[in-house]
Amino acid sequence: MLEGRDVCKNYGGLRAVAGVSFGVSSGEILGIVGPNGAGKTTLFDVITGHTRASSGDVLLDGRSIVDEKVHSRCSLGLARTFQQPTVATSLSVLENLYLAASFRRGRDGGSRPDDLVVAERYLEFVGLADRAELEAGPLSLFDKKRLMLATALATNPTVLLLDEPFGGLNPQEIGAVVSLIRKVRDEGLAVVCIEHVMRALTALADRVLVMHHGATLFEGTPQEMLTDKRVIEVYLGSTPREGT
Ligand SMILES: Nc1ncnc2c1ncn2[C@@H]1O[C@H](COP(=O)(O)OP(=O)(O)O)[C@@H](O)[C@H]1O
Ligand SMILES: [Mg+2]
Repeated sequence: MLEGRDVCKNYGGLRAVAGVSFGVSSGEILGIVGPNGAGKTTLFDVITGHTRASSGDVLLDGRSIVDEKVHSRCSLGLARTFQQPTVATSLSVLENLYLAASFRRGRDGGSRPDDLVVAERYLEFVGLADRAELEAGPLSLFDKKRLMLATALATNPTVLLLDEPFGGLNPQEIGAVVSLIRKVRDEGLAVVCIEHVMRALTALADRVLVMHHGATLFEGTPQEMLTDKRVIEVYLGSTPREGT
């Protein structure tokens, strides 16, 4: 579904992403882990076109998309959420979704009532139906994160990229987001999820890619990751031990 081949991104002399290859299929969750500054968000920026790759290729359904603009990649089926909550603050929750639905893949000539149906479906899906009329700006972090997820889904993607969807949430909220992401995967989307919260990620991901200094340190199952010597070295002392 989505494939990266030897992706590199330099910012001046800094190799933010240094030759990363990956693949994720429909119905699969790929987790991306790594210390702050490892290049995780930059990798997403290259995939979505928020920044240009210095070299390497990104393919969606076997077709290279590195020369496409952000909105073209969206209409081809790529959607993402951001590390910082990113919503249209002065619009209502429903208006945010309605706007996203109007850009959805396959909309060709669809009607406005259809956009509203899609908007309401995803509002319901993430549990924000009772907040539809509220302005998005003052929402809590949990609500903003769910709104970002809903707007991404309303574009009808085949590949969903999530940048730290659990960051700043409490355990109960994390549980709710984990089950939403599982449902999305079960509907056949390919999901790539960047996350610092190791326990949430190991519970969620089918495969994990660990990044360090822009490069791939490890790729395998979450269970293999937890016992990998290189991964333990990189994280030793920098990650709080999860409840054992
Ligand atoms: N727009 C940018 N301009 C210059 N340097 C950047 C830019 N975005 C990220 N970087 C640098 O690239 C490296 C990787 O950052 P980032 O991808 O945000 O890491 P992560 O998401 O893994 O924490 C960091 O050293 C960061 O300072
Ligand atoms: Mg980041």
